[in-house]
Amino acid sequence: MYATFLIGQITGIATISAMLLFGLAKLFSRHRSSGHVQDGDGYAVLITGCDSGFGHQLARCLDHKGFVVFAGCLSPEGAGAQLLARQSSSNLKILKLDVTSDEEVQQAKKMVQENLPEKGLWAVVNNAGITDWAEIEWSSIGDFHNMVDINLFGSIRTSFAFLPLIRAAKGRMVYMSSIFAFFHCLNMGAYSVSKRGLEAFADCLRVEMASFGVKVSIIQPGNFGQATSIVKMKTSLDIWEKLDDERKQIFNRQYIDLANEYFTTTCRSGSKNGDVVIDAMLHSITSAQPKYRYLLASATDTFFFRLFPFLPTVVTDAVFSFSSMYAKRREMLYAE
Ligand SMILES: NC(=O)c1ccc[n+]([C@@H]2O[C@H](COP(=O)([O-])OP(=O)(O)OC[C@H]3O[C@@H](n4cnc5c(N)ncnc54)[C@H](OP(=O)(O)O)[C@@H]3O)[C@@H](O)[C@H]2O)c1
Repeated sequence: MYATFLIGQITGIATISAMLLFGLAKLFSRHRSSGHVQDGDGYAVLITGCDSGFGHQLARCLDHKGFVVFAGCLSPEGAGAQLLARQSSSNLKILKLDVTSDEEVQQAKKMVQENLPEKGLWAVVNNAGITDWAEIEWSSIGDFHNMVDINLFGSIRTSFAFLPLIRAAKGRMVYMSSIFAFFHCLNMGAYSVSKRGLEAFADCLRVEMASFGVKVSIIQPGNFGQATSIVKMKTSLDIWEKLDDERKQIFNRQYIDLANEYFTTTCRSGSKNGDVVIDAMLHSITSAQPKYRYLLASATDTFFFRLFPFLPTVVTDAVFSFSSMYAKRREMLYAE
């Protein structure tokens, strides 16, 4: 009896000690490898997609903090890039950078290497992206290609080019994902595919880069459709005209009108202020302990989006069958 009690005590103490040691080791290893850069003195950052939106805003913030900013722009002669150049110091350099072009990424790399400040390239922010909404059956393979070419392969291509410089500085790789990476719903098929793929890439990269002291963060904004230029409005006629006769019969015009109105309203309900996203991007670049993921939504939505990927599929699919939009859709399909 006494022996059993003693074994129990020893096992308990050993387990708690092991847990404490593991915790301390984790803490120690994090502190040891937690190089960080509060201001940009001597460091550079490359950001893609700076013509507008989050990339544009982040470029200005980092410039004010003293970083040498390489601001990748799709159209360096466009209004967004020109405004950025006017509002920033001479330390900010506008680069022509279409992330779908091998040639432009290599040109950008050359330009960065030739203009690197003494401490090197500290961070790459893979921000360039597009979105669209359409049911999978309204889309073409070209629509999927376009989305994935920019949102996923664009980031992979940029990462390949700049990783050696980031490794040399033991710096940061940041990826702009979305809540739609792990929240699957009507109309977001192509976008979700691109962002889930992006998160898989970033997760694998984080594991591989840890040994080099490079940290990888993923930013997952919710609906900030009013804060940036991401939402390109389209009419139900734009969708209708892409459908062949068979699909016109299945989906019918009334449903397409309803879906278009629903999505336009949803986009308009997005936050007008993207400061919380910029703060997260800044944290991922400058903090000693950047987070692996930054989920940026209201408290209720954050709770929901964190929980969603862990729920059984039968439950997550049921969520949609409770939605009024989904019910209307079921009624309206095949309607005259
Ligand atoms: N706003 C949101 O609600 C939200 C939510 C979740 C995730 N995000 C993500 O946040 C990132 C930034 O988007 P944003 O909201 O700031 O939208 P945005 O204002 O449209 O910014 C995206 C930028 O990427 C550029 N771009 C498009 N195609 C490109 C290409 N092939 N190569 C290089 N640049 C390209 C765009 O240039 P043009 O302006 O010339 O097209 C634009 O400047 C995206 O990855 C997006 O998916 C946004």
